[in-house]
Amino acid sequence: MKDVPRAAVIGNPVSHSLSPKLHNYWLSRYGLAGRYEALQVAEDALAHTLRALPEQGFIGANVTIPHKVAVLQLADNVTDRATLIGAANTLIFTDDGRIFADNTDGYGFTANIRQEVPDWDPKAGPAAIFGAGGAARAIIVALADAGVPEIRLANRTRLKAEALKAEFGARIQVYDWVQAGPMLDEVAFAVNTTSLGMKGAQPFKVPLDELSPDAIVTDIVYTPLRTAFLDAAAERGCRTVDGLGMLLHQGVPGFERWFGTRPEVDEATRRAVLS
Ligand code: ATR
Repeated sequence: MKDVPRAAVIGNPVSHSLSPKLHNYWLSRYGLAGRYEALQVAEDALAHTLRALPEQGFIGANVTIPHKVAVLQLADNVTDRATLIGAANTLIFTDDGRIFADNTDGYGFTANIRQEVPDWDPKAGPAAIFGAGGAARAIIVALADAGVPEIRLANRTRLKAEALKAEFGARIQVYDWVQAGPMLDEVAFAVNTTSLGMKGAQPFKVPLDELSPDAIVTDIVYTPLRTAFLDAAAERGCRTVDGLGMLLHQGVPGFERWFGTRPEVDEATRRAVLS
């Protein structure tokens, strides 16, 4: 009997990852043969592991911290958007032994907003981004692709925001971290990409007095699902979207490539992952 196709999330640490729950839920929901595992891989073992996986029946993988940047050098083909973002989160192992790397974080971000706010108009006004790390890079690319006219960026370490402006162009306006409140004036969209507000991390304290009730507000933090940032925005009347959906949607393209069925992200998927 031929072994079932295998996929995995590769990280270090990796035990916190929700991807195994997500993909195994989809496999069982669609009655597909397959297995999805969590593989803890040290940085110095990454290259060897990636080459060894196809021989063990793996057809692809998700990649998480700390390997998302390193895999770009190890892949044989890298999509334009992964190159632009500077990281990959989805790998496909082809039959002829090559590794194909893509980044679906930006896709997941946009797909989540479009699903939760079907009338979202990216061109409605400027977007504000808190943070300038890896997640911010993917979200900048996604928002620029969607047609957001101006992207305002505030980061504790201003230099990192300046570097993103240098890389991604004139559409980005950098604000001081202490100006993160005033940055919200007239924005149509705001997103927290920092770890602030995550369980165990410091709270997100940017004042929202300038935030219009018409703005759409989202957070990539999903532990807790309702962050203080989202609650404060909702109190102002903003429509808010939690961060779990981004994680679920970024898994869709990989699952479809590996297992041949495009999975749905819906309430049942959310419940399965949160259970
Ligand atoms: P990710 O890949 O999730 O974006 P990251 O690259 O480590 O992770 O980025 C974390 C982001 O959270 C950064 O923007 C970081 O700000 P710095 O660039 O100044 O480090 C931000 N961040 C983390 N802790 C913070 C804090 N206490 N106050 C403000 N920003 C913080």
